[in-house]
Amino acid sequence: MKSSEVKATLSFSDGSPSIELPIYQGSAGPDVIDIRKLYGQTGKFTYDPGFLSTASCNSAITFIDGDKGELLYRGYPIEQLAVQCDYMETCYLILYGELPNAAQKQEFVRRVSQHTMVNEQMQFFLRGFRRDAHPMAVLTGLVGAMSAFYPDSINLHDVAQRDISAIRLIAKLPTLVAMAYKYNMGQPYMYPRNDLSYAGNFMRMMWATPCEEYVPNPVIERALDRIFILHADHEQNASTSTVRLCASSGTNPFAAIAAGVACLWGPAHGGANEACLNMLYEIEAAGGVARIGEFIAKVKDKNSSVRLMGFGHRVYKNYDPRAKLMRETCHEVLDALGLHNDPLFKLAMTLEKIALEDDYFIQRKLYPNVDFYSGIVQKAIGVPVSLFTAIFALARTVGWIAQLNEMIADPEYKIGRPRQLFTGSPARQVLPLAQRA
Ligand code: CMC
Repeated sequence: MKSSEVKATLSFSDGSPSIELPIYQGSAGPDVIDIRKLYGQTGKFTYDPGFLSTASCNSAITFIDGDKGELLYRGYPIEQLAVQCDYMETCYLILYGELPNAAQKQEFVRRVSQHTMVNEQMQFFLRGFRRDAHPMAVLTGLVGAMSAFYPDSINLHDVAQRDISAIRLIAKLPTLVAMAYKYNMGQPYMYPRNDLSYAGNFMRMMWATPCEEYVPNPVIERALDRIFILHADHEQNASTSTVRLCASSGTNPFAAIAAGVACLWGPAHGGANEACLNMLYEIEAAGGVARIGEFIAKVKDKNSSVRLMGFGHRVYKNYDPRAKLMRETCHEVLDALGLHNDPLFKLAMTLEKIALEDDYFIQRKLYPNVDFYSGIVQKAIGVPVSLFTAIFALARTVGWIAQLNEMIADPEYKIGRPRQLFTGSPARQVLPLAQRA
């Protein structure tokens, strides 16, 4: 982070002295005004609910240019990573800053595959959940519980422990997601198979049974790998900021990642792919393509709270580059599985076309986001809708850990403690119960 020659001057209309604030330049993206001394110098806080104009940290991991529709992991365009690399290479890149060479990749894959099994006791912990428990409720619990199962890697301030917890989380998340699914289905858990790819092993743990051999379909394997790559990190989004804030107290990595899982669950964030499919089901149940016009009218009505799920993004105001890649995968998968004529997919494609041509969406720069297509792909390959967000969590785990590691290694890191504009009652006296109105 480089100091700019330019300074910002903040002046007040009540005659209070103005102050000068330093400006820093990153390697790309907008400059930032350093307001850390603002309170000390003026007695005032800044007010920015939703962090619309606030950079909460400096980071060298992911860069997004929302106007250009650009997404870079460690400087590499997502379009190149999605086509030329696999998820394991992407994880290595996000975690360690550089793409691995062949030997480094082999060693990383070996390390991850050594940790794919979970403590056998975890299945008894899982058994405490209702069979119909939402997978995100289960995952929040299981990931949090890892701090109890792996107490030798919970010291956030020990680099070696942080590294082993990172590998454990990347390795075990697919196992835990698949266990949550199998438990839901009442089927036996499938142990991991380390000779398969990361995605292939996940597919086998999801869809194989002990009764017969299972060979992953390579089109689906590649589609899942791409879903993982596209969701691996996304700079300071809500769940990543949650992980950073949570870890800033010095809690253990598993607890911090569990907080990220919990945040991701919300429909405005990772839960959007599930919400999007549920929306398609609702339109389908109401009459399908013929009812889209009515649905769009509801979305545009200021008095309804209905949103077109899978559309819009806080940062991308041109297009979501992940959506473009996921759209490609979506068509590949639908072709490979002969699903182009499935009524639900036809409905999704019609909705996409109508929304892209509608003034309401054009004016507000609302484009399909990655979740619109990833939901469709996952539905096509047989992932139950309630598991969509858990798969997003699995893929995002590497990003959360890398961001957490970056924060802990940053000499400027402090416990996160936002301030507030208080609007409640001023100090008052407690009346005895009998005298209260
Ligand atoms: N459908 C209809 N109208 C929308 C939508 C939508 N999906 N998204 C935004 N708008 C409208 C909104 O009503 C507002 O209109 P107006 O200016 O007339 O009041 C305008 O667009 C700006 O909306 P906003 O709420 O200020 O935008 P935001 O940046 O705060 O919200 C968002 C971003 C992603 C929460 C929102 O677009 C949304 O709710 N989308 C649907 C949920 C979704 O798909 N989320 C997944 C995001 S991608 C995955 C991830 O990174 O987590």
